[in-house]
Amino acid sequence: MEGVPFVDLYPQYSELKNDIDAALEQVLKNSWFIGGKPVFEFENALAASVGTTLAVGVANATSALWLTLKALGIGPGDEVITTPLTAFPTAEAIMLNGANVVFADIEEETFQISPAEIERKISPRTKAILPVHLYGIPVNLPRIQEIATQRNLPVVEDCAQAQGAEILGKRVGSMGVAGCFSFFPSKNLGCWGDGGAVCTNVESIARFVRMFANHGRLEKFTHEIPGANERLDALHASVLRIKLTKLDEWNAKRRVIADYYSEKLSKIEEVRTPKTYENTTPVWHLYVIRAKDRDKLAKHLKEKGIGTGLHYPLPLHLQPAMGGEQRRGELPVVEKATQEILSLPMYPHLPLEGAKRVVQEIENFYVHKS
Ligand SMILES: Cc1ncc(COP(=O)(O)O)c(C=O)c1O
Repeated sequence: MEGVPFVDLYPQYSELKNDIDAALEQVLKNSWFIGGKPVFEFENALAASVGTTLAVGVANATSALWLTLKALGIGPGDEVITTPLTAFPTAEAIMLNGANVVFADIEEETFQISPAEIERKISPRTKAILPVHLYGIPVNLPRIQEIATQRNLPVVEDCAQAQGAEILGKRVGSMGVAGCFSFFPSKNLGCWGDGGAVCTNVESIARFVRMFANHGRLEKFTHEIPGANERLDALHASVLRIKLTKLDEWNAKRRVIADYYSEKLSKIEEVRTPKTYENTTPVWHLYVIRAKDRDKLAKHLKEKGIGTGLHYPLPLHLQPAMGGEQRRGELPVVEKATQEILSLPMYPHLPLEGAKRVVQEIENFYVHKS
């Protein structure tokens, strides 16, 4: 095996080509492209998979988060606590509602938001906690729920990177008041464009999200509130319905690769492998190490044809939209982590040979210094 791409999505289609082609043809035959049966069928299958009573398909996870927070009545003057190590949309969804983002620093070993830091950041203006199951590693939700329950605060789970992950046998997205999912193509359950969903047991949240995402209506010509167009398309839903049947198998394949990386790389002194919490089943959307001389290692791997990524190069509080460099020093753990993290190739169809090549080249860089 020569080069190893960071991600390769085509094998997902090859594996399911016949079923996907037939499902797409059915949508084309019906020519009903917005909402309808494929969307409802997928929503039902998704709710069953996540373990909630309700699921609402939306345009992407940014909409899912934005509308869930809106459904909770979060607006100007309110604060929502989240992690600074996440994709920008997590914070953006809070700001889209006019609320303030409050960052709680991460835990060094797991990269996940620290419950102790959440507790420290709670103020009378705090209206929700928004933990992210980052990289597909479930956060310490039991402890976060405890903190939230004591203060009567809702927990909204950002599950964009963690479809299928579990805590004590329960799927992420089923334990907070709502779980928000992304079907961005490279996610563990990805469609062929943008897609997302809100999973919840709370009828009023599902109702509000469904209504707002469809121009403020539940009936065709009755608009109860001004909303927006944030719907999931039928073509995407029909692909997702089929790919959902493979989710567990593909997540198990990711775990085999992650276990291999962890076993081999933990022997290299200059590398720290990611840790997970007890009684959780991660789904390794990304496999992220901390590496000495990270940039030089990334360059070495690139020269050898191995793709890597940075998730994320900047903690969110240092983004220009959030205050920028003048805030450096506020969140020391994440600021140090972002200088050392490196995402290695990870996708369900990555052959073990590919993972072996990655390990070999990391060993060559540190151990054999080639
Ligand atoms: C943790 C997290 N939250 C939210 C999002 C937003 O997802 P989408 O692209 O579907 O809007 C992403 C996507 O990258 C993400 O990784």
